[in-house]
Amino acid sequence: MLKGKKIVIGVTGSIAAYKIPFLVRILVKEEAQVRVIMTPAATAFVTPLTLSTLSRATVIVDPFKETTGEWNNHVELGSWADLMLFAPVTANTLGKMANGIADNFLVTAYLSAKCPVFIAPAMDLDMYNHPSTQKNIQVLRSYGNTIIEPQVGELASGLSGPGRMEEPENIMDHIRFFFDHKLQFSGNKILVTAGPTREAIDPVRYIGNRSSGLMGISIAEEASRRGAKVTLICGPGHIRSENSSIKKLYVESAAEMYKACRTSFSSADIVIMAAAVADYTPEQVSTGKIKKGTPKLTLNLVKTTDILEELGKLKKKDQVVVGFALESGNGIVNATAKLKNKNLDLIVLNSLDDKGAGFDVTTNKITIIGRSGILHAGELKDKREVAGDILDTVKNLLDGRKAVRSKKS
Ligand code: CTP
Repeated sequence: MLKGKKIVIGVTGSIAAYKIPFLVRILVKEEAQVRVIMTPAATAFVTPLTLSTLSRATVIVDPFKETTGEWNNHVELGSWADLMLFAPVTANTLGKMANGIADNFLVTAYLSAKCPVFIAPAMDLDMYNHPSTQKNIQVLRSYGNTIIEPQVGELASGLSGPGRMEEPENIMDHIRFFFDHKLQFSGNKILVTAGPTREAIDPVRYIGNRSSGLMGISIAEEASRRGAKVTLICGPGHIRSENSSIKKLYVESAAEMYKACRTSFSSADIVIMAAAVADYTPEQVSTGKIKKGTPKLTLNLVKTTDILEELGKLKKKDQVVVGFALESGNGIVNATAKLKNKNLDLIVLNSLDDKGAGFDVTTNKITIIGRSGILHAGELKDKREVAGDILDTVKNLLDGRKAVRSKKS
C-alpha cells in the first residue's frame, strides 16, 4: 500500500529516537522510499549509520556536506516528499518549528515542506504540559500540521504522565490512513460554513451565540487534507483556520452568510452547513448607541432566511447538502424532520443532552441521519475525529451514488 510513497522522517534528540529504526524498517518493508534527517542532538540517541542502513539512503544531519563544502538541499527534499513525519520531536524543536527558527537542517526542511506534515512530540510530562509547549503545538496545528498526540505512560525520567511518543505501529496507522484517505476528495469542491452569526442591535451591541466555529473549521481542514478544494465561510467565532490552502470568507450576520453561500453554492459539489446561524435578527438596527432610560426595552425580531432551506431548494441532483441539527429532546425525530423539510442528503445531530457535545467544547458526539435512517452513531470524540466521521459518511454516499449510476449505464 505504501509502495513508492516518498516519506521524509525527521528525528530529534529524544530517547524515543530509539524507536525510529523500527518505524523505518516497517516503512521500507512496505516499499516506501524513506529519507531520514536528524538534528545533531538526535545522533547521540541513534546513529545515522543505523538509519541509513535501514532506509537505504544517506542520512542528512548538517546543512553542509563536510567533504565538499556543498550544502544539502532542503528545498529539494521539501518538494520530493509526499509526507514528512517528525518523530520524536522535543520541546526545543517544537519551539523552533512553530517560530521558524531554522538553525539546523531539519527545521529548514520542515519550513520547505510542500506536503502534509505529521509531528509526534516526545518529552517529559512537565515539559509537555508547559504552556509554551502547548502554545507551540497549537500554533503548529493551526498551520495545518497533524499532531500525533503523545501517550500517557512511563517516561524516561521515571515519572508517569503524558509525553511518551506514540508507538511506531500506531504511527504507521496514521501514515497508512493518510495515504488511504489523501485523495478521497480530490476533484471535489466543498463548501463549509462555521461559527456563529452576530445580529447587530446598535453599533456596539449584537445578538450572538456560543458557537466557537471549531466543528466547521475541523471539517474544512480535514476535507482539505483529504484532497478537496475547500471554501470556508466563517462567522465571528474565536477560532480561525490558518490552513492556507482553504479559501476563507469572513462574514458577520446571517444575511451576509446567506449572500456568501449563494455566491459559492453553485460551484460546490458538497455543502456542509455547520454554522450556528441566528434564526432571528432585530427588525431595525439603531444607528446610534441605544441609551438606557426606560425600565423596559423591547426588541422586535424578525426571522432570518434559513440558508440551508434555500440551498436545499436550489440543490442539483449531483450535489450533496449536509445540515446540522442541535436538539434538546426528540433528537432523531426533529433532525429527520429537518432533513426532509430542508431537502438535505444528510443531517448531523448534536444533542444538548449529551455532556461534552455541542457548542464551545473541543469534543462532540454525533448521529448522522440519511434518507434511509441512521447511518452513523458516534461516541464522544475530539471534533477533528468527528470531522473525519462526517466526511467518511459523505464519501460513502458519493460511492453509493456512483455504484447506482454505473449499474444503470
Ligand atoms: N440554518 C441555516 N440558516 C438559518 C438557521 C439554521 O442555514 N437561518 C442551518 C444550520 O446551519 C444547521 C441547520 O440549519 O445546519 C439546522 O439548524 P438548527 O438551529 O438546529 O435548526 P433550525 O432549522 O434553526 O430550527 P430550530 O432552531 O427551531 O430547531
